[in-house]
Amino acid sequence: MAANLQFFWGLFLALSLHSIIHSAPSPHVYIVYLGLNHIHDPTLTSNFHHQLLSSVFGSEEDAKRSILYSYKHSFSGFSAKLNSTQATALAKMEGVISVFRSKTHKLHTTRSWDFLGLTLDKSTDQVIPLQLGFGDDVIVGVFDSGVWPESESFQEEPGMRPIPLTWKGRCEKGDKFDPETKCNRKLIGARYFLKGFEAEHESLNMSGNPEYRSPRDFIGHGTHTASTAVGSAVKNANFFGFGQGTARGGAPRARLAVYKACWGKNFVPVCSEADIMAAFDYALHDGVHVISASIGLDPPLLPFFASMAGIGSFHAMQLGITVVFSAGNAGPDPSLVTNVAPWSISVAASSVDRTFPTQILGDNNFSVTGESFITSDINAKLVEATAYFNDGFCVPNNTKKNVIIKPGRIILCFSTYGPSSSLGAAAGAKSINASALIFVGPMTRQNPDVVDPVLPTVLVNYEQGTKIRDYLSQFQNKITLNKASRIRCYVAQNPIADTGDTTFDGILAGGSMKLADPFDIGAGHINPLKALDPGLVYEMKTSDYILFLCNVGYTQENIQKMVLLFPGLDTSCSRVQRSSANVNYPSISVSNLQSTMTIRRTVRNVGQNKNSIYFARVVEPDGVEVSIWPKVIFFSWFQDENAYYVTLKPLKKSQGRYDFGEIVWSDGFHRVRSPLVVRVNTVADSIDSIADTSTIK
Ligand SMILES: *[C@@H]1O[C@H](CO)[C@@H](O)[C@H](O)[C@H]1NC(C)=O
Ligand SMILES: *[C@@H]1O[C@H](CO)[C@@H](O)[C@H](O)[C@H]1NC(C)=O
Ligand SMILES: *[C@@H]1O[C@H](CO)[C@@H](O)[C@H](O)[C@H]1NC(C)=O
Ligand SMILES: *[C@@H]1O[C@H](CO)[C@@H](O)[C@H](O)[C@H]1NC(C)=O
Ligand SMILES: *[C@@H]1O[C@H](CO)[C@@H](O)[C@H](O)[C@H]1NC(C)=O
Repeated sequence: MAANLQFFWGLFLALSLHSIIHSAPSPHVYIVYLGLNHIHDPTLTSNFHHQLLSSVFGSEEDAKRSILYSYKHSFSGFSAKLNSTQATALAKMEGVISVFRSKTHKLHTTRSWDFLGLTLDKSTDQVIPLQLGFGDDVIVGVFDSGVWPESESFQEEPGMRPIPLTWKGRCEKGDKFDPETKCNRKLIGARYFLKGFEAEHESLNMSGNPEYRSPRDFIGHGTHTASTAVGSAVKNANFFGFGQGTARGGAPRARLAVYKACWGKNFVPVCSEADIMAAFDYALHDGVHVISASIGLDPPLLPFFASMAGIGSFHAMQLGITVVFSAGNAGPDPSLVTNVAPWSISVAASSVDRTFPTQILGDNNFSVTGESFITSDINAKLVEATAYFNDGFCVPNNTKKNVIIKPGRIILCFSTYGPSSSLGAAAGAKSINASALIFVGPMTRQNPDVVDPVLPTVLVNYEQGTKIRDYLSQFQNKITLNKASRIRCYVAQNPIADTGDTTFDGILAGGSMKLADPFDIGAGHINPLKALDPGLVYEMKTSDYILFLCNVGYTQENIQKMVLLFPGLDTSCSRVQRSSANVNYPSISVSNLQSTMTIRRTVRNVGQNKNSIYFARVVEPDGVEVSIWPKVIFFSWFQDENAYYVTLKPLKKSQGRYDFGEIVWSDGFHRVRSPLVVRVNTVADSIDSIADTSTIK
């Protein structure tokens, strides 16, 4: 209980500290990015960084004092405390690609894997052998708030092979974290990065901030994300008795390497970009195969090479390492997705197929069903927040003067009066000694928040909330909250079609009544089993990234500093006057279709059958004629790759909106679908000219 309340107060504290930071003209932490590490000797690279830095400090000692990290293992760059004059001077130097302020990032985010089709064996409740088979000898690096190493999720599975010899990482010793006893064949790496946090926020030793100066997880978020990704199977897991079942990650056999770059600051997790860059520098060198990072900044989006997400994942991609970011928690309004570089994967969560219904019962057979995690029935008088709080805004210290507040009431609080989060409202209701909260919020946030440790809370939508208020105005009476019982369904709300491939047919957008389009759910829901045998793949090659970078405004000079060069690779931008629509991305989107245009894609057959024939099927976006050539593609032992061309012809005048279609290639067994998104714009405008150029420069 205390932790949650303090978490709440921490939010206020963070807001007030924000203004203090801005008024102080002290140096800030900057990140200086230099591209690939061409010198393959970390000591020499780091000497070079000191030299660059000394030139803006005038003295080597001052330079050494200001530097936090020298990024020298997997790419080249450094972070240091600089004033704006020094930052500007560095940005002008030969070899420097970008200089940007280290920003403070936020952390984002038992049945998920069943929901996605990876079911447990019904007779034994064990993970099916297929799921166990994949993930063996895959090392997943998790960038987050650390790990709770004693958790059952991170114990060795029987029969795990020794740690792969290619692994160069290690477990670092620190506060309450002894690698000798904590690390094993499952948890094979644990590092922590703290210099950025301490330079930008506060020393961990100050002000009694509870944290561990080690990879140990204080916040809990890192343990949650790591166990979701690679946790071993743990039977009888539950949340205060709810959601009972076997918890396990998507790849329960995979190894875990933890990179702690997020720290609790009075219970609020914050991640310094300088620390996350260091995590990338080490993880790529240690030998992880996949990186999972539920970290990000809210929009506006930043230039790719002025952010840890863009830079870190670009170098990972060049080494064949997949980086998976969270898409952020800022929805459900449109255009709030983050971590969108085309060389990393951005994953959004949807709701789950189970609910936690709670009956709200009153006199005269009054009944409304909300959702909650309450664990026992509550019987008390109901009061609307407007009776006790100024303007019905139910937060602490906002109670009406001259009103006698009776303890033990159930408070009905509308998010439209405020606050918008049930956590804030629970703190408000708790401060007046209420027995429970009924929080009225939008349908899109139907799953109950975990606020019960603060105060038992039932979530209802506006329609239900209005019914309860009408009931209250009629009867002024007692109400009973019936303890939640879990029901599995959710079908009317989110009918994920079970056809195997990803699809958005029939899914409602963000809990509204509008059908979801690719802007709501991207390419669709993932199907992990089908993904093991996709049939065809769209490969992005170095030339595709060069085409992309040229199109967003990077010069050949900068591209050559970042891209792993090989003989015959063409890095020139001038020749590449073609549209970025030709980047070999599996989805096709054209934001500005002025006249007929043709787009090229290349598909590679990765199916078991080398001799196969694929047929195209098209769903045209409204007002666009789509033709595909060829319509049939033949693959053989000698030709596993084929190009095809999509011609788009506008049939209507500009309507200022996007229309959606799809292209599906099928051999009768596999179904390879690409979303097609087109905005006809027969009145030319300049939306194509938004260039992604680096800061300061
Ligand atoms: C930044 O520091 C340098 C000394 O290293 C100093 O000459 C310069 O005036 C400072 N600039 C600002 C804006 O404080
Ligand atoms: C903070 O505490 C750690 C050990 O807990 C110690 O090594 C370090 O020197 C301390 N730092 C400061 C600034 O006091
Ligand atoms: C409540 O429901 C019961 C059973 O359905 C019914 O007999 C009774 O008349 C209802 N009472 C009111 C006030 O509607
Ligand atoms: C606000 O309320 C909290 C909790 O009830 C209390 O600790 C705090 O002193 C109050 N602050 C002010 C400014 O009244
Ligand atoms: C809530 O209960 C506490 C402890 O019993 C009491 O000190 C406080 O005055 C009560 N607050 C209100 C608003 O009733």
